[in-house]
Amino acid sequence: MLIVHSIEELFTQTAQFNGSIGFVPTMGALHEGHLSLIRQARQANDFVVVSIFVNPTQFLEGEDLDAYPRKEKADAKICEFAGVDVIFMPTKEMMYEADELSITAPAIRGFILEGAKRPSHFDGMLQVVMKLLNLIAYNKPTEFRAYFGKKDAQQLALIMQMVKNYFINVEIVPCDIVRDSDGLALSSRNVYLSKEERTKALALSRSLKRATELVMQKEFKVTMIQEAMLEVLKEVDVEYVALVNREFQAIDEVKIGNTIMLVAAKVGTTRLIDNLWI
Ligand code: PAJ
Repeated sequence: MLIVHSIEELFTQTAQFNGSIGFVPTMGALHEGHLSLIRQARQANDFVVVSIFVNPTQFLEGEDLDAYPRKEKADAKICEFAGVDVIFMPTKEMMYEADELSITAPAIRGFILEGAKRPSHFDGMLQVVMKLLNLIAYNKPTEFRAYFGKKDAQQLALIMQMVKNYFINVEIVPCDIVRDSDGLALSSRNVYLSKEERTKALALSRSLKRATELVMQKEFKVTMIQEAMLEVLKEVDVEYVALVNREFQAIDEVKIGNTIMLVAAKVGTTRLIDNLWI
């Protein structure tokens, strides 16, 4: 495995790749969630590239850019163990210049839910994903796949839309959410949680479980389901509880096979998101 810190080195490596590339973009502090993406990339491709870059443009003023966990050594070990060929770790100077052109998230899908709570977050996220896709595929691999977790459902939907709208030659592979045995969705931000907060944080996955139970009992009304979810979420600081279709449009009734239930909440100062696709 090679760790490359410059774009030139990256291109030298990818020029030698004579086959398909599976790409997993990350911000590091890798956990089993990331690892599941890497494993899927490993299984389906000749070469696997992981990027580790805490992208400043997707953090808002006052968010945790400086505090975001950085664990380069441990990350490298995880990647090596998982059979990654190249880790790409650029600096922000390599990725950005002063007067950049920008990408704006779509007006509706990009500005609800996460987009409403974190204005401009998706613009920065799309900008860096576009750059990374172009960089990794620069030497025109025979096939190019990029792996994203359903954990960030709206991010995934927007990336798929960007790929479609800008005719980017990549197959986006959505990957299932990985959870701890107690149900908490894995996240690099879970390290911020104290023991008590971690227990409280379980309300997020429990609220989604409650919603699923209701759907299984044939309660399809969104308002009823939201109410039941909020009841479970009483002890955390809820930002939103939403049910949308796979296009991220608002719905009144759950349609099995075409619904995503989402929750965002603050536990202490840590902001957590979770969702379930039914
Ligand atoms: P990051 O939060 O590091 O996540 C990298 C990828 O891992 C994303 O596709 C995310 O959805 C996925 N992931 C995180 N936790 C997961 C879990 N518990 N189960 C399954 N997949 C999980 O998302 C980003 O970084 C950034 O926005 C990025 C796309 C790299 C652009 O900067």
